[in-house]
Amino acid sequence: MDSVYFDWNATTPPLPEVLDAVHRTASETWANPASVHRPGQLARAELDRARGAIAALVGGHARDVLLTSGGTEANNLALRSARGTIVLSRLEHPSVVRVAEALEREGTRVAWLQPGADGRVSPECLAARLAELSEVALVSLQAVNHETGVIQPLHEVAKLARAAGARVHCDAVQAVGRLPREHWAAADFVTVAAHKLRGPKGIGALVTRPGVEVRPVLRGGDQERGLRPGTQDAALAAGFRVAAEHAIEGPRRYERLGALRDRLEAELIALGVRVGVTVERNGTAQRASHVTNLSFGGWRGPELCAALDLEGIAFSSGSACSAGTAEPSAVIRAMLGEGRARSAVRFSLGELTTEADVGRALAAFARVFARLASSNPHQGSLP
Ligand SMILES: Cc1ncc(COP(=O)(O)O)c(C=O)c1O
Repeated sequence: MDSVYFDWNATTPPLPEVLDAVHRTASETWANPASVHRPGQLARAELDRARGAIAALVGGHARDVLLTSGGTEANNLALRSARGTIVLSRLEHPSVVRVAEALEREGTRVAWLQPGADGRVSPECLAARLAELSEVALVSLQAVNHETGVIQPLHEVAKLARAAGARVHCDAVQAVGRLPREHWAAADFVTVAAHKLRGPKGIGALVTRPGVEVRPVLRGGDQERGLRPGTQDAALAAGFRVAAEHAIEGPRRYERLGALRDRLEAELIALGVRVGVTVERNGTAQRASHVTNLSFGGWRGPELCAALDLEGIAFSSGSACSAGTAEPSAVIRAMLGEGRARSAVRFSLGELTTEADVGRALAAFARVFARLASSNPHQGSLP
């Protein structure tokens, strides 16, 4: 890829070893894993090896790793397994928020928590809501926010949820392979997606604590204990296994990104001051080291992305699933309102990001702002 890639939260470049494993398994171990003959057994063994590697990465037992088509499906399964009130905030990914909205329309009681302006769901806010609610079945809280990188207080939230007799679901898609396991260890259901940790697209997992009941969304055969029917793909599973083995060392690789992210952020803010563009950081609570979300006064996020894309710098406004639409980020809107959301962009770094990449991005921003200054002296500020 020619562009400098700052969109690791959207997806990550697949590892060459992952592509090899997928190709090799698709060519050689293509039998149906549900078949009882030997080729089928070999394909099934690939699934089991993948379950082992995912359990080693995420925690839990291999037998409690339910393979899905990705994070979205795992989130759907977790939320639709609840029987009773569901509690969550609009900081969650659309694959959680929109399921909760659908369940609400179908008659499930859903309690929405107001997130803080700092990008965090506060345990105090949850405690107050739990005191008013009855029959709470599930509290859903992501480990790391996909747009701001803010780390959520899962431990405290899980304690409160347990005391109220509720299960805890953690969408850990943006945390696994980047942060240590304790960030989601308190959850009963954990969602993970292979493509966010250099694996293939189209496969993910829902990992549950022993004894936690999952209710199927799809009906069909007995694959994945009947909880996720449909023929499994040993090739994607092999790719996921290789990515999961690589991701065990992920938190160590991601640590160094804090310095690069801080430089990018500080120099963009300073550049803004020089050219008269107000730049505000979205997400002031504790964050993972590789994400920054900034609002640029006078700019719409998508315009800024397009202008920098022409300069060979790839980043995003909103989450990847809402890209291509003019909708501003629902996360930033929930935290800080519409105006900040409209001008928000996200940079997400990854294990291949270098100091030179940050330098190229800063130089490109300086060029874009210089053009702006000469063509439009009326620069905007933020609400
Ligand atoms: C926090 C979070 N959850 C879930 C998903 C959905 O995962 P998938 O793309 O594997 O369906 C994403 C992807 O952007 C995400 O960032």
